[in-house]
Amino acid sequence: MNPVREKSFNLSELGRTLPSVTRKQRMDPLLEKIFNLSDADRAECAKHVMLGGGTRGGPVIVRGEGIRLYDTTGKSYIDCTSQSWAMYLGFANEAINRIVAEHMQSLSHVHQGFDTLPRYYLARKLAQLAPGDLNRVSFTVGGGPAIEAAMKIAYKNTQPSRDFICLYDSYHGTTLGTMGASWISTRSAGKLAGGSRFLGLTRPFIRVPNPYCYRCPLGLSRENCSLACAQALRVTLEKGIAGNVAGLIVEPIQASGGQIIPPKEYLQAVRRICDEFGVPLIFDEIQTYARIGRFFAAEYFDVTPDIIVLGKGFGAGLPIAAIIISDRLTGFEQDGEELHTFANSSVGQVAAAKQIELLENGILDNTAQMGEYLRARLEEMRNEFPEMGDIRVAGLHVGIEFVRDPRSKEPLNAEGKAIRDEGIKLGVIFGLAGVRTNVLKIKPPLIVTQAECDEILDKLRSAMTRVLRR
Ligand SMILES: Cc1ncc(COP(=O)(O)O)c(C=O)c1O
Repeated sequence: MNPVREKSFNLSELGRTLPSVTRKQRMDPLLEKIFNLSDADRAECAKHVMLGGGTRGGPVIVRGEGIRLYDTTGKSYIDCTSQSWAMYLGFANEAINRIVAEHMQSLSHVHQGFDTLPRYYLARKLAQLAPGDLNRVSFTVGGGPAIEAAMKIAYKNTQPSRDFICLYDSYHGTTLGTMGASWISTRSAGKLAGGSRFLGLTRPFIRVPNPYCYRCPLGLSRENCSLACAQALRVTLEKGIAGNVAGLIVEPIQASGGQIIPPKEYLQAVRRICDEFGVPLIFDEIQTYARIGRFFAAEYFDVTPDIIVLGKGFGAGLPIAAIIISDRLTGFEQDGEELHTFANSSVGQVAAAKQIELLENGILDNTAQMGEYLRARLEEMRNEFPEMGDIRVAGLHVGIEFVRDPRSKEPLNAEGKAIRDEGIKLGVIFGLAGVRTNVLKIKPPLIVTQAECDEILDKLRSAMTRVLRR
């Protein structure tokens, strides 16, 4: 049964298709040289590349089209990671390419201190879309710096204050200001990972239990927990902190930590508690923006934070991030409080604005519909694979938590990774959640069609059969 109707809009009209020119015809000789590097050249060049994260040794990617990437051998991969969850409109999106190329003919980099029309336009558009009185926008260069910008605003508005609170299993970046809030600084991956090496430089965050109902950190079950995790926040505010709290940072859906979707009532309780204690509530919407089938998780959960942070997919693949703050908060002053060379990327702003236009014209609806389609099909598949212990879906935020047995919930850590590896062999790139490796993430570009969802699910079934039934 197909519970979701096919979309009534035409994706090619939404700028999905590539122009039919071949790349070779218009290739710059330097590009030709780069894209013709021999295997030996590549091995030599690789010695000079230093990475602080990610897994190396996978396919070498040369191009993308729609939801697919292609490697040096011509093999294609459906990308269910949207490359760090950032390519909402897929690869080589014609509408984005066209507007960026046209805009680059006249303007690219402009110092933050000069006003530009793209910045005016995008700031007003975001204020119109954002919930409540969140009306002022500051742009920056990436997710970590945007979280730090939000922290600066929250801190300014709560003086005297010092401490920030975040949730167990959260991820807010790897800058020195945010790393202490990310799970990679804790033992939650079963070992002390990268973030822990910089403890002398990073700031400590106070952590409170997260609403991970499938594996409640407080050992409770949703039926009779009375939202004890929200109560833990209250007790921490009452007794666990000296003085005012500078802010609470929350991912409305914990993505990197395991695709953990909170009950709506949890976020609503958090809002009430923050109001009671005068704590600015910061929603890190770096992963939820648009991917949830609404522009903001704030709408999805019916909770208005004081500050929203955007990054990743916000710029349709270009590096741009933003914070949107409530009118009740004192904003930045122009005396060097927040200054970055590339914080006024007019190219990123134009791309972000074009993407909003496309999202409003069908892609947000597609996101919600394809998410529900995947949910229904995955739930059917669970009859065949009871190891799919928990299926968590909100728009195209899709996570499957693998367990040996649905009653014991023993995590299938090695198997989660093995399913991902089989996927690569089969031509699909799945994500893995960071805290445990037993949560498989299916987060394709938001332009994915129903036929492509079927293809993803077929490959998933083959990968699960190979790993779980061998
Ligand atoms: C929820 C969330 N916040 C913050 C960040 C940090 O963003 P960036 O990697 O652009 O610094 C990420 C990146 O994965 C993220 O997922």
